[in-house]
Amino acid sequence: MTGFRLAHLSDLQLPPPPLPFRWGDVASKRLLSRFAWRRKQRRHLQPVLDAIAADVLAQAPDHVAITGDVINFATPEEFAAARTWLQRLGDPADVTVSPGNHDALSAAGAPKSFAPWAPWLGDGDAAGFPYLRVRGPLALVNLSSAVPTALHLAQGALGSAQITRAAALLRETGERGLYRVVLLHHPVAPGVVAGRKALTDAGQLRAMLAETGAELILHGHAHQALLTRVPGPLGPIPILATPAASTPAGGHGEPARWNEIEIARDGAGFRTTVRARGITPALTVEPLGSFVLC
Ligand SMILES: [Fe+2]
Ligand SMILES: [Fe+2]
Repeated sequence: MTGFRLAHLSDLQLPPPPLPFRWGDVASKRLLSRFAWRRKQRRHLQPVLDAIAADVLAQAPDHVAITGDVINFATPEEFAAARTWLQRLGDPADVTVSPGNHDALSAAGAPKSFAPWAPWLGDGDAAGFPYLRVRGPLALVNLSSAVPTALHLAQGALGSAQITRAAALLRETGERGLYRVVLLHHPVAPGVVAGRKALTDAGQLRAMLAETGAELILHGHAHQALLTRVPGPLGPIPILATPAASTPAGGHGEPARWNEIEIARDGAGFRTTVRARGITPALTVEPLGSFVLC
């Protein structure tokens, strides 16, 4: 029987449109990042990202989850360009975006609450993060760990209020027998990234998850393909991460890939099959292998 197919990609780091000079950017983190971009721009290529997106579309998943760092400097121009790019993936009701640290780079000039991306964050008139989307057997609990940080830092934070609200959503959707998928940008398991890049309240999140449980957690930020786990009430909760979706093969960093995650009912529970697909030097996207999560 065919299950619900969820595509997971992350860290698009959409190459920025030409940026107008703003006095407000002088000595800001955003300006510093523009210099860093000169070094990084060969790590994030539009043709790679477009090939990955075309492959996702060709596989026609039921839903797409994007776990942050959609853009690089959080300028209004980038938010607008990202909207255009996201629209190509289909109806925003079928695509969920959890923002990353690069999407919240500087508080100055960045749109409040990621407003230009509202159709991709959650449904209807929900008040803000965490957003809940129920799709087929899935409850997508969309968190935001994206906060502006000091220079040279790429940390994230959820905040106690968001963690408390997420706990209520996870309990409620768990009681309904849904397959709960938590989306956020930063890693949840300890030690995945250095402290200066870590989720500052990951311990509080893990303590909450150990009580409420979740069937799967998806994140980005590490720019690596990872399978980690954290304790849940009935056993370990699997956590998947994917490399940046715009990194070419044969360069610095893990080449772009995405996961097709198929969730099928299996007796009283679910069976989760993960199929990885990755970019080649010829800019085709090929299957890399598959496994069943347990
Ligand atoms: Fe990133
Ligand atoms: Fe990040």
